[in-house]
Amino acid sequence: MNLILLGPPGAGKGTQAKMICQKFNLCHLSTGDILRNEVSNGTDLGVLAKDVIDKGQLVSDDIIIKIIKSFLNENNNKFSGFLFDGFPRSLDQANKLNDLMKSINIVIHKVILLNVDQSVLLERIIQRKEVEGRKDDNKNVLESRLDVYLTQTQPLVDYYNDLNLLKKVDGTNEINQVNQDINTILEAA
Ligand code: AP5
Ligand code: MG
Repeated sequence: MNLILLGPPGAGKGTQAKMICQKFNLCHLSTGDILRNEVSNGTDLGVLAKDVIDKGQLVSDDIIIKIIKSFLNENNNKFSGFLFDGFPRSLDQANKLNDLMKSINIVIHKVILLNVDQSVLLERIIQRKEVEGRKDDNKNVLESRLDVYLTQTQPLVDYYNDLNLLKKVDGTNEINQVNQDINTILEAA
């Protein structure tokens, strides 16, 4: 089973991804986590990506596709499937994902959209800053991240809905409730 988790910044993609991957033996592919890892290791890629992430903008497709390709190659056949968290983030990335998947003979089975209101997102991001210290977790950068989400990522909702893959979940509920709602969707035929 291969899944995409869609949702605005702070919607709970990472939180739910970990729970889903454990239950269904999926490989968690978070482009945000991979990029932050590159930044903290000071790699060439991390140096290129750092300012873009700190401004809440999208890192170039060239970099992202390179990351995805090598991740897919390294992990293909090791798990029961992939869970994409934070990718694709635009229609262009969705088309590129289609091409990559064709090349390794896999398909997306479901796309889960976590719906959360903006006021709740801000509260969560401010709280997480205290815990994780992410530099892009502040009110100003969150505004850019939300703006990028609305203009570039949200079109994917209609795109995957038209392909009959989209499932919507209320992401404002408590973490375990959201997880149960997702499990119900994934366990349905
Ligand atoms: P990325 O790391 O993907 O960040 P994001 O999409 O902004 O999402 P977050 O990780 O902030 O939130 P989340 O939905 O994972 O929520 P979480 O579970 O942590 O991307 C970061 C940057 O990298 C981008 O801005 C861009 O620059 C770059 N990038 C990444 N992918 C890219 C791509 N494909 N193309 C180009 N650039 C890319 O939860 C948030 C908080 O809320 C946590 O503290 C959590 O404990 C809490 N929480 C979660 N669920 C609940 C709940 N149900 N109730 C209460 N609290 C909850
Ligand atoms: Mg995340």
